[in-house]
Amino acid sequence: MIRLLPDERSVVAQYIYSLCAITLDQSKDYLIEGRLSAVAEQAGCRSYLELVNRARTDATGALKRSIINEITTNETLFFRDSSPFDLLRYKIIPEVIDRRAKTTQKVPLRIWSAACSTGQEIYSIAIVLAELLGDLSRYQIRLVGTDISDQAVAKASAGIFSHLEVSRGLVDSARARYFTAHESGWKIRDELRSLVTFRRMNLMEDFSSVGKFDVVFCRNVAIYFNEPDRASLFNRIEQRMEADGYLIIGSMESLSGLCPQFESKRHLRSVYYQSKAPATLVNTPTSTTPSLMALSRLAASPAAPAATPTPALRPALTFGSRK
Ligand SMILES: C[S@@+](CC[C@H](N)C(=O)[O-])C[C@H]1O[C@@H](n2cnc3c(N)ncnc32)[C@H](O)[C@@H]1O
Repeated sequence: MIRLLPDERSVVAQYIYSLCAITLDQSKDYLIEGRLSAVAEQAGCRSYLELVNRARTDATGALKRSIINEITTNETLFFRDSSPFDLLRYKIIPEVIDRRAKTTQKVPLRIWSAACSTGQEIYSIAIVLAELLGDLSRYQIRLVGTDISDQAVAKASAGIFSHLEVSRGLVDSARARYFTAHESGWKIRDELRSLVTFRRMNLMEDFSSVGKFDVVFCRNVAIYFNEPDRASLFNRIEQRMEADGYLIIGSMESLSGLCPQFESKRHLRSVYYQSKAPATLVNTPTSTTPSLMALSRLAASPAAPAATPTPALRPALTFGSRK
């Protein structure tokens, strides 16, 4: 293994910061050595300084991408922490549908998994929608997964998961319903895969082109950033949210004292954030999409055998997740 020398530490850490905003102090030397030693060796470099210089001048950008792929932590699992998915199912989606049901179009449902890693988060969201709504063609669904790691995005996009990955967070019934057997494990079914668009995206760069969303999941990524970058990230995410949109962050994260424009709200075991700015509600007639009341009827349809009715009636139920 190539050792990180004391006089190259700050150059390497600053370079990593410039690539992805991940901050690495001295206590993370082991991480640089453990994750970048092989990249350096494969590139024929004898030191990390050489690796940085090579990456800076590599016109193809391949070395830079390898460094990002290695230095990012892509740990994730299906239905991670379970409660955000209950929140989505029992409160957020019914509320969004009720509010948007006044439009003349199919109700749009737009959800962004910012820093989606290998896709388990956005596919868990797709499963919630399928379970809750049944006939998804009645809605205009746009699910977007973005991540800075092209390796993670490629895996997410393929939608193929090992037996171990599928065993982390998915109950057998959800696996049977939403995945097909594949030589490498399990593949997400086309009906769910086709709901999601994946894109490589650095959250530290301008992401205004991603569009607007009713719900944003941005979990377990800002923990790697410094405070000003965290504040900047959530401020810019707010610009990508509808005025009455919902932001869900990681269970160990908080916006308290960081982004005063967000109001923290609680529903059962979950915390979520909404912009304090007053929401503008659209008030146009006749929807082609069912309202919250109609969701309970939908739940009984053959297309949604496992869907359950209103949040008030079934607050403690979970599906598809393991604690
Ligand atoms: C620990 S995973 C979280 C995945 C998922 N959100 C979850 O909670 O299970 C963190 C992800 O953030 C991504 N990431 C790190 N820095 C990023 C940046 N500057 N822009 C976008 N994604 C980034 C990593 O590639 C990694 O996949």
